[in-house]
Amino acid sequence: MQDVYLSFLILCIAASGLGFGHGQKVLNVVDFGAVGDGQTDDTNAFLSAWKALCGDDGAHEGSPSLQIPEGKTFLLQPVEFQGPCKSVSVQVQVQGKIIAPSTIEEWKNCEADCWIGFVGVANLNMYGSGLLDGQGSDWWMRTVQANNLNAREIACNPPSTALNFERCDGLQLSGLTHVNSPKGHIGINDCNGVLISNLNIAAPENSPNTDGIDVARSTNVHIQDSTIGTGDDCVAINGGCSYINITNITCGPGHGISVGSLGKDGQYDTVEEVHVRNCSFTGTQNAARIKTWPGGSGYVRKISYEKITLVASKNPIIIDQHYCDGVRNCRNSSTSLQVSDVTYSSFHGTSVDEEAIRLDCSGRGCINIVMDNINITSADPGKTTYAYCEHTSGTSWITAPNVPCLSVSGF
Ligand SMILES: *[C@@H]1O[C@H](CO)[C@@H](O)[C@H](O)[C@H]1NC(C)=O
Ligand SMILES: *[C@@H]1O[C@H](CO)[C@@H](O)[C@H](O)[C@H]1NC(C)=O
Ligand SMILES: *[C@@H]1O[C@H](CO)[C@@H](O)[C@H](O)[C@H]1NC(C)=O
Ligand SMILES: *[C@@H]1O[C@H](CO)[C@@H](O)[C@H](O)[C@H]1NC(C)=O
Ligand SMILES: *[C@@H]1O[C@H](CO)[C@@H](O)[C@H](O)[C@H]1NC(C)=O
Repeated sequence: MQDVYLSFLILCIAASGLGFGHGQKVLNVVDFGAVGDGQTDDTNAFLSAWKALCGDDGAHEGSPSLQIPEGKTFLLQPVEFQGPCKSVSVQVQVQGKIIAPSTIEEWKNCEADCWIGFVGVANLNMYGSGLLDGQGSDWWMRTVQANNLNAREIACNPPSTALNFERCDGLQLSGLTHVNSPKGHIGINDCNGVLISNLNIAAPENSPNTDGIDVARSTNVHIQDSTIGTGDDCVAINGGCSYINITNITCGPGHGISVGSLGKDGQYDTVEEVHVRNCSFTGTQNAARIKTWPGGSGYVRKISYEKITLVASKNPIIIDQHYCDGVRNCRNSSTSLQVSDVTYSSFHGTSVDEEAIRLDCSGRGCINIVMDNINITSADPGKTTYAYCEHTSGTSWITAPNVPCLSVSGF
């Protein structure tokens, strides 16, 4: 008996010394001095913890993990977590809350382009049931005031994104709640192979420019199983993107799932292979939107929106080749990006505007636009819906309202 016990004890000591039973190195931000009382600036503690995490080669214990524990609220100033890291992959588990300063005066770096940035970190897996709160209301108020005064800029511009990923190939982001960002909530830039799932993103309907997820210059990005309600696009796919699948998203309020805007300031932009599937739009300004600026060049092609549910969406289907944000001088140009091979299939539900479909194309126009099994009725039972189209060609199958520019097929 004694011997068995002793050998068990020895085995345990030996095992813990070798790190068995732990599997990976776990670094808790609290052990690096983070206080988590919602008042103390924990930025430096997070940076120290990141340095330890990123410097760990993970050779013996698997990918190292940074823990942001439950039950605490960490206040962070604008901060950038830089790679490359020594380990092939790194994990960040967010269980607690992370908050931004609550007033503009408290932001220490008003030049920052994002609040929390990850740059050049490969195979980053950020997950957990925690919350990121950008505390954007002060920024929104100032932006609205500045717009009303027609002022060109406010003294300190809001960071364009709360949580930003730049050159993070193999990124996974899941489970978190993101609320009230000063502008956009999540940015994916120059990333290849991204999986975003089970997020909850929320900001008020009237908060300015609070996009849910913005993707630019990225390929093989999958966004799925998430609920997004904001004051701007739920998801926006920008220039340089290809192979983007967006599936099982509940959007609303917001401006829909958009491709663009593209071609701003005469720019050359391309977007292809964007597939939006099984998404619902409730009380949104738009649902399936493609927007290009006059004067731009490049193309948007091979886009599909299918199995879409609409509940009182204002402009469910829209291609706008005359996009202009109304703030800058809008160009009067007949050239624009070429829009082609866009398929809309299985749309059901209601539109607030009687103009349920708007294909407002210019220049070379929009070609091979396909509508298949579309039934959009008015949210007001006494009214009917109609479609507007200009410089558009393609085919429609069982589509209501009828789109005059498209040749009717299937009979
Ligand atoms: C969409 O949701 C369904 C039902 O929850 C699930 O079976 C399917 O895997 C999801 N698809 C994607 C791509 O997330
Ligand atoms: C992306 O969506 C398209 C169209 O629905 C589909 O053919 C393709 O297999 C999807 N890709 C992945 C990796 O799921
Ligand atoms: C579509 O997405 C919803 C969630 O938005 C999900 O409940 C449903 O099961 C999905 N359906 C399919 C066929 O994936
Ligand atoms: C744009 O240009 C066209 C043709 O050059 C002209 O007819 C139209 O009035 C112009 N519109 C504006 C708003 O300047
Ligand atoms: C379109 O949807 C409305 C409302 O759900 C329904 O009454 C109508 O029968 C549908 N039309 C077709 C052709 O399916």
